[in-house]
Amino acid sequence: MRIAVTGATGFIGSHLIESLLQKGDHPVCLIRKTSNLQWLPYPEIEFVTGNLQEPESLVDFVKNAEAVIHLAGITKARTEAEYRAGNFAGTINLVRAIQKFNPEIRRFVYASSQAAAGPSPDGVPLKEDDAPHPVSAYGRSKLEAETYLKNTEAFPFTIIRPPAVYGPRDKDVFSAFKLCARGIQPLVGKDKYLSIAFVKNLVKGFLLALEKECARRETYFITDDGILTWKTLTQMIANALGKKPIRIHIPESLLSVPAELSGLIGNILNRPMLLSRDKIMEIRQHFWTVDISKAKVELGYKPDFTTEEGIRETARWYLENGWL
Ligand SMILES: NC(=O)c1ccc[n+]([C@@H]2O[C@H](COP(=O)([O-])OP(=O)(O)OC[C@H]3O[C@@H](n4cnc5c(N)ncnc54)[C@H](OP(=O)(O)O)[C@@H]3O)[C@@H](O)[C@H]2O)c1
Repeated sequence: MRIAVTGATGFIGSHLIESLLQKGDHPVCLIRKTSNLQWLPYPEIEFVTGNLQEPESLVDFVKNAEAVIHLAGITKARTEAEYRAGNFAGTINLVRAIQKFNPEIRRFVYASSQAAAGPSPDGVPLKEDDAPHPVSAYGRSKLEAETYLKNTEAFPFTIIRPPAVYGPRDKDVFSAFKLCARGIQPLVGKDKYLSIAFVKNLVKGFLLALEKECARRETYFITDDGILTWKTLTQMIANALGKKPIRIHIPESLLSVPAELSGLIGNILNRPMLLSRDKIMEIRQHFWTVDISKAKVELGYKPDFTTEEGIRETARWYLENGWL
């Protein structure tokens, strides 16, 4: 199948492309002039240069595609406007290009986020139909894009809401691996509960969303099986790295200091940083937990890897590739 993919150069996208190639699909990747192609060294890939912010550049990308997987997005930004431009406006431009130049598309799979749904208020894992209440600008921008898709008439979208994703090549959850490798297990405030996804499990969910007819105009959470605490997760990371780290408790009230500093540095360097006021709002939440029974029942989704296996594979990759 000829599948147009945005965000292929990114962490999740590069894994998705490998799975598409293994299945014998023909991926067509949207890349920017500045994109780094280091994770896409495959001659079978077709590249189209364009930018989600430039609607006219999307015509060749969407033409002739049987399906589109839209992963490109902004996970770090300095302002709400930057998140909206990256996640909401970019999605509108892409959908409009498809509606105009390739209206018979079979499926449009959108990478939203658990952040669009927001945290669970009471620890009960959220279901897809629970009323969304994002706590961050990032989550709001993803929810806006979801709402736009749901308001289209008959557009064949499927929304996937991943939680925090880890795996080879990831640079965000990697921070926890780096700290554990240095012998530090950071615990912020009271222990937190979370759903998390190994990138290979998530890619399996994306492919099911692409294939299954019943997924048309539906939304799914895709995660590893089970719910973890941050303490258990960091312990798993430490075990995978063969470390016995020292637990360091950081009071939540102290978090705003590095976030403000990081925001200031980001403004000086003119680029978004990993830690920001927006991210702190997310870190402060106690229950980033979701229920994946809808994906299991309707898509037949079953994670191929346990979190322990995913963490071990990820740790091995960081070590073998000199990241740790
Ligand atoms: N990683 C997670 O934990 C996680 C969790 C939940 C949801 N998600 C969502 O999943 C998607 C993929 O995440 P990721 O972690 O793989 O992100 P990533 O590594 O930061 O990659 C982002 C991708 O988006 C592309 N992109 C950004 N703006 C673009 C534009 N204007 N035009 C064309 N391409 C553009 C980037 O292209 P360049 O190479 O040119 O920069 C890159 O390929 C995102 O939508 C994210 O919000 C991620």
